[in-house]
Amino acid sequence: MRLLITAGPTREAIDPVRFLTNRSSGKMGYALAETAVAKGHEVILISGPVNLEAPTGLAELVSIESAREMFEAVRDRIDGCEAAIFCAAVADYRPVNSPDRKIKKTEDSLTLELEKTEDILGSARSGFGFSGILVGFAAETHDLAKYASGKLEKKGCDLVVANDVSRRDIGFDTDRNEVQLFFADGRRETLPVQTKAGIGQKLVEIIEGLVKGQR
Ligand code: PMT
Repeated sequence: MRLLITAGPTREAIDPVRFLTNRSSGKMGYALAETAVAKGHEVILISGPVNLEAPTGLAELVSIESAREMFEAVRDRIDGCEAAIFCAAVADYRPVNSPDRKIKKTEDSLTLELEKTEDILGSARSGFGFSGILVGFAAETHDLAKYASGKLEKKGCDLVVANDVSRRDIGFDTDRNEVQLFFADGRRETLPVQTKAGIGQKLVEIIEGLVKGQR
């Protein structure tokens, strides 16, 4: 199958030398890409800045920095994919102004005005007209089930993969993860703590099943 995967963080410029970002290492998204390539799928990986080697055998690796760039990369490539997995930790807000010159330390305090970034997952169905299997992630510190089910419905996902990012042993920038799966048909499943490679393998199998069911 042809599969689009987003991974890693985004960087939202404050000025030419500073940015807003988050703790995503890209490990979860790259583990998914690695498994999918190994299983013979055609994988487009759209990645924020990470310190990881891209799997060999990708159909395409698109390196982006900002949420806007990730939005455009997904918009331009999602057509024709049978499944799309949105694992990237995309910034929800970016600075409204990002001057061309470095902000100098002249004042005692500095207020940054932020605006919402593009909602890439939320654009997949209505904006991009994507009708394949849509998999979103949910990174939550509390009320995981409530927020994950909300995302499932609001974004038109077939599956939401939720992880508890308040824990230090799983989630952001770790080698292991534990995820709870929320399916559109109401099923729920937990993949207990294991390596991200293990989670990636199981998720790709589940997504293969969802794609087969849709054919
Ligand atoms: O990269 P690692 O260090 O391995 O960590 C893995 C992970 C914790 C980043 C990963 O497992 C994960 O949870 N990814 C989603 C992170 C996130 O941004 O979650 P969210 O609940 O804020 O967003 C929900 C969904 O909307 C996600 O699919 C996200 O990609 C998408 N999104 C978010 C904001 C935005 N502007 N556009 C989006 O498409």
